[in-house]
Amino acid sequence: MGKNKLSRFAENSTFAHVLQPSFTELVENGLALRGKWNADFFERDAPLVLELGCGGGEYTVGLAQLQPQKNYIGVDIKGARIWRGARTAKELGLANVGFIRTHVDHILKCFGPQEVDEIWLTFSDPQIGKARKRLTSPLFLDRYKQILKPGGLIHLKTDSPLLYEYTLEQIAERELPIHEQSANVYADLVLRVSVEEQAVMNIRTFYEQMWLAEGRTIHYVRFGVQ
Ligand SMILES: C[S@@+](CC[C@H](N)C(=O)[O-])C[C@H]1O[C@@H](n2cnc3c(N)ncnc32)[C@H](O)[C@@H]1O
Repeated sequence: MGKNKLSRFAENSTFAHVLQPSFTELVENGLALRGKWNADFFERDAPLVLELGCGGGEYTVGLAQLQPQKNYIGVDIKGARIWRGARTAKELGLANVGFIRTHVDHILKCFGPQEVDEIWLTFSDPQIGKARKRLTSPLFLDRYKQILKPGGLIHLKTDSPLLYEYTLEQIAERELPIHEQSANVYADLVLRVSVEEQAVMNIRTFYEQMWLAEGRTIHYVRFGVQ
């Protein structure tokens, strides 16, 4: 393992805003903060927003700056990526940001029923040929439905036509409400939304920047789970 990675892992363990629960802790008891994120971690009542598969947490940190009235948690399995977001949040003095290093599969062990207001899925792996593993598969949508409040929202931003179309199919099958949709964010969506929403859509993640440099088109859908 590279020296950089090791020092990032070491620094993660010093951050109060990074949780790295063990498998046993999660599976046997669930996170101690489950159902109590606002009261015990953020120490304020505010809408709770997750970014799943957050990588370097560009949306977590970017949204926390744009909409400081909400609380944000980035979730990813890769410690070195989470470190990037955690370090930036610390440098910016953001008190409304946390990170959990874990598999999204454990999401029900991390958050209580109806604890969450919004979920962002940013450039999630399209899992070609492995539909069950996609973060918008029926299995995951069922989990999100449990932790989201009534009226809660899911945002999917992706370069993958496969994941975008697949998600639209899941939405149609379940007859879920679509609040916003665009097959081409920068040639369509940002030209017709408010300045505030433009700023949100203009947050560019690490992967998004790579895909834009390759000339890929970015897709977005925002929908409810009931
Ligand atoms: C393609 S990257 C996108 C990262 C970031 N959202 C971005 O746009 O730059 C996908 C990320 O999802 C994470 N990931 C994939 N499956 C996951 C899972 N089941 N649980 C937690 N993280 C996962 C990977 O570690 C990786 O950081």
